[in-house]
Amino acid sequence: MNTVLNGKVEEGTRVMQAIAEVAISRPAELSHEALRREQEKTLKSPRRKYGLLAKMLFWGMDLTYGRKQTLSKFKVLEVIARVPYQSWEHVAYIALTHTYGKLSLARNVFEFVKESRHQQDNEQWHLLLIEEMVQRKSIKENFFMYRFMPQVVAFLYYHVSWLLYVIKPELSYSLNADFEDHAEHEYMAFVAAHPEFETESFESEFKAEYRDFNSVADLFRQIGLDERMHKLESIDHIEHPRFA
Ligand SMILES: [Fe+2]
Ligand SMILES: [Fe+2]
Repeated sequence: MNTVLNGKVEEGTRVMQAIAEVAISRPAELSHEALRREQEKTLKSPRRKYGLLAKMLFWGMDLTYGRKQTLSKFKVLEVIARVPYQSWEHVAYIALTHTYGKLSLARNVFEFVKESRHQQDNEQWHLLLIEEMVQRKSIKENFFMYRFMPQVVAFLYYHVSWLLYVIKPELSYSLNADFEDHAEHEYMAFVAAHPEFETESFESEFKAEYRDFNSVADLFRQIGLDERMHKLESIDHIEHPRFA
């Protein structure tokens, strides 16, 4: 009886640990110097050779919101950034429904679900941190351009990511790697173009959930670095596209 009870407690603890792992979407704490080095690395590295769909998206965004990097434009980027992970999570849950009888395969699929959720959460913090900054600075945004349009683009992008994944997962990962590479370079260039961020203190309601920084410059360096991690994960999946 005790063994059964202990087994259930251990299982419960394992489940709680798994939930905690998924809930953690905080980046590793790098020093200011380390973040600066990572920024330099990005700025010195060439961008990926973007595919046609990615080029069309970036071109469309530049045309609609201007080429200049702004907080409001980054917010549009972050609304769109979450959806490939949502679409992959959706596909993975469908796969789980079909494969749960094969336990080791089902476990691999669930690992993929967890990774997708972790990335979604991380993108979600980016969005909230930037929205918070936009509100704090009282930046005026047109509802149609900055609320309605991003949701339309995100809806379409979700279906493109989903369809590409169903046709050939590598295509979906490659599109996302392009998107993340673009985001990484844009954030690092944004910091370089705004030396005043170095002395602007980072104020946020979300420090406990994300992390704290000495300056807004370091916050954006960290976000740029997060995007690089997302890119590298997608590149890794291009080489190992299926769950097994
Ligand atoms: Fe992001
Ligand atoms: Fe990202």
